[in-house]
Amino acid sequence: MTTEIWTAVDDYIIGHVQPTDPVLDAAQEAARAAGLPAISVSAAQGKFLHLLARIQRATRILEVGTLAGYSTIWLGRALPADGRLITLEFDPKHAAVARTNIARAGLAGQVEIRVGRAIDALPTLAGEGPFDLIFIDADKPSTSAYFEWALKLSRRGTVIVVDNVVREGKVVKPAGDESAEGMHAFMTALAAETRVSATVVQTVGAKGYDGFALAIVDR
Ligand code: SAH
Ligand code: DHB
Ligand code: MG
Repeated sequence: MTTEIWTAVDDYIIGHVQPTDPVLDAAQEAARAAGLPAISVSAAQGKFLHLLARIQRATRILEVGTLAGYSTIWLGRALPADGRLITLEFDPKHAAVARTNIARAGLAGQVEIRVGRAIDALPTLAGEGPFDLIFIDADKPSTSAYFEWALKLSRRGTVIVVDNVVREGKVVKPAGDESAEGMHAFMTALAAETRVSATVVQTVGAKGYDGFALAIVDR
């Protein structure tokens, strides 16, 4: 079993659950043209995030790690007219591509990109929370720190999703891989965290073998 069949099945799945989407296609094309890394969530994962935000009836969403705004658009489309999404991005070049993509999606009025280090922005968000859904998908070594902030910016019932937890299985024994080390540290923190109920779902697909953590804040 390889990414080839996983990608074929991902294409098959999205072909059966989502009409061709020129806005999302244009967002990915703009990211590619600007030389951004191809590390967004897959279409099927984006749809999953969208469904989760709708299930949650989220009106306030926080995202850590914007890239070209691909996951941002999936999440933003789940918002009601008066909903709001704040997304944090370190790289001004990524933020510029995202801004165009988000505007093309008609979400400029609801989505705000804050450019800078997430660890500096997070302490400034207390007045804008609590958030209903928080998606953590930035620099992997900082994941535990972002999760700790996510808890501070949450309420009972907030849903927290952490991307890229499994890293081809390296989370169990990171062996020097700094992203996997970050996720291993996150899992250690999660194990000791009494304020959430959580699981990790392993995934295969167009993005290879990885997984995401899903947590709900209990108190
Ligand atoms: N969520 C996006 C992918 C994000 S990729 C999607 O699925 O479409 C991770 C992003 O995090 C990159 O754009 C990277 O520039 C950004 N990033 C890395 N370190 C960061 C930091 N310290 N603060 C904020 N963003 C950071
Ligand atoms: C990487 C980052 C991501 O957010 C992702 O979904 C896949 C890979 C990375 O930095 O390698
Ligand atoms: Mg990711």
